[in-house]
Amino acid sequence: MKIFIDSANLKQIEQANDMGIIDGVTTNPSLMAKEGVYSDTEEHYKKICELLENVEGHVSAEVISTNYYDMIKEAQNIAQIHRNIVVKIPMIKDGIRAIAFLSNKNIKTNCTLIFSPIQALLAAKAGATYVSPFIGRLDDISHEGMNIIESIRLIFDNYSFDTQILAASIRSNMHVLSCAEIGVDVITSPFDVIQTLFNHPLTDLGLEKFLKDYKSLNS
Ligand code: G3P
Repeated sequence: MKIFIDSANLKQIEQANDMGIIDGVTTNPSLMAKEGVYSDTEEHYKKICELLENVEGHVSAEVISTNYYDMIKEAQNIAQIHRNIVVKIPMIKDGIRAIAFLSNKNIKTNCTLIFSPIQALLAAKAGATYVSPFIGRLDDISHEGMNIIESIRLIFDNYSFDTQILAASIRSNMHVLSCAEIGVDVITSPFDVIQTLFNHPLTDLGLEKFLKDYKSLNS
């Protein structure tokens, strides 16, 4: 399972990459706005791609156009920023049409804002490189977000789609565990959740005791 960081913060991306477990980055317009990036987005995406060059990590950069012609124009410009850019396209009718066009041009895409398995099926049929089902936002409205992940896995396996399931809107360590058990291809997680993945209190207690015992013999 690949682990992406869901962030546009350069410091977080660099720190996560230094952990040695990061395979890519996802961003969205909200995350870019959080970093105050409005005009020079190209420069910012380039910096993110360069940070991940050691792993040739895919970096998702989202279009803000919502009609077919503007979307494919914007997507082609975004794709030129760096070889590892994946263009994020929203799950709307024009978006699916744009994904089909871009896929024929060998431009990698990530179909975002997926909230149902059928939406994922359409994106895969159009040739999306990734689909991004949003787990946390479904949980927020009292749906079991993990159910659509299971259903998408089943559908993609039924028809041997190459499209990768990129589980997004991850809010907890338990989301990551369930995704790994179901067999998603990628999870994208905020920096704070990635940090929790390392932790177990028994690891800390065990290490403390090992070091204490070692010191008692060597003092
Ligand atoms: O990048 C898309 C997704 O991961 C957003 O997550 O927490 O805003 O629902 P969230």
